[in-house]
Amino acid sequence: MQATACRGGKGRGRPDTAEGNTPRHRADPAWAVGLSRQGGLCYKMNMSPHDTDASTPAATSAAAAAAASADSVDPGPQLGIDLAGLKLANPLMTASGTCGYGNEYADFVDLTRLGAFVTKSITAEVRAGNEAYRIVETRGGMLNAIGLANIGLDAFVERKLPELRQMRQAGPRIIVNVAGHSVDDYTAACARISRAEGVDAIELNVSCPNVRDGLTFGTNPQLLCSLVRQVRDAMSEACPLIVKLSPNVGDITQTAAAAVEGGCQVLSLINTYTAMAVDIETRRPRLANGTGGLSGPAIRPLAVYLVSRVYREVARPAGVPIIGMGGIQYWQDAVEFLLAGATGLAVGTALFVDPATPLKVMDGLRQYLDRHGVKAVQEIIGTLELPGD
Ligand SMILES: Cc1cc2nc3c(=O)[nH]c(=O)nc-3n(C[C@H](O)[C@H](O)[C@H](O)COP(=O)(O)O)c2cc1C
Repeated sequence: MQATACRGGKGRGRPDTAEGNTPRHRADPAWAVGLSRQGGLCYKMNMSPHDTDASTPAATSAAAAAAASADSVDPGPQLGIDLAGLKLANPLMTASGTCGYGNEYADFVDLTRLGAFVTKSITAEVRAGNEAYRIVETRGGMLNAIGLANIGLDAFVERKLPELRQMRQAGPRIIVNVAGHSVDDYTAACARISRAEGVDAIELNVSCPNVRDGLTFGTNPQLLCSLVRQVRDAMSEACPLIVKLSPNVGDITQTAAAAVEGGCQVLSLINTYTAMAVDIETRRPRLANGTGGLSGPAIRPLAVYLVSRVYREVARPAGVPIIGMGGIQYWQDAVEFLLAGATGLAVGTALFVDPATPLKVMDGLRQYLDRHGVKAVQEIIGTLELPGD
């Protein structure tokens, strides 16, 4: 890992609205059914990759019911975590962009049980995003090229934040994901959002592969360090800054170190992998954008590896917690991330198959800890033993 030298402190014909990519899909059972018919994601994602009975969805529900009744007697292992002073009731949260602004999911899952809710990326201006098609299914994953479609900062603060504040009263902390095109974009948005009532932390998206300049900051350690420093300076001091890292780099420990040097308090990883799917009849990419970001079960082992590296080489020495994500669908996946060094756990693509995924993961995690005689989830964070340890 090299030290970073840090200086100084619209599309057409879209089927979705700027309100976001997710509500229509999520609320539409036909879309979910389509997932399983088209490429087997539902089917594959509903089949546990783990071979014990306890890992099947049915067993997980039974286990969840048992855990729920046990809760009334003994709360069991403590799931609470601390992300640089931000206390969460449990490590589970939504991954940005996969759960809209929150209310879209209210009919499907009790979001108030989450440790935190992470919004989709907000930009200073309204963004319509890329042309359709901008989501396609692949075996074991999803390719998206949404292009940061969002309602813009003003509408977010006026219309969505009040709803999020209500959700917050019931439990979860609110993390607002911010994206931008320039340092000024980022600093202006973060300065305002960090001072807004009900915002517990900001997650900086410097790693979107689906907009033309989306990876510029996220792949250049010097630019990243400088951006993070300026954003940090512009924000309310009380508001923790999370920097979300891209896997589309040669050595992720360099960008992780740059973000830490710039002053972020938490790292989150990973965003999606730049990828492509081809329509062999038309001989054209299946996404109008050409390329998209790959997410879901296909990227989980890659994400676990990167979390493990960043934890050992950057985050642990710097005392910076990690929010891990990338293909989490079952509680076993969550345990892998925790052992590799993640403190928080975000669930994204799996929500498209079952919106209750984070809650099921939470219940399974609690049982795992109980079975292993672990009193608090923090005890297992980063306890993975590698060859040579
Ligand atoms: C449809 C979709 C939209 C996304 N939008 C955003 C976004 O707006 N901002 C962001 O930081 N990440 C976004 N992501 C990336 C996810 O937050 C997450 O980092 C990635 O999908 C890996 O997690 P997963 O495999 O559990 O989905 C998006 C992912 C998907 C699938």
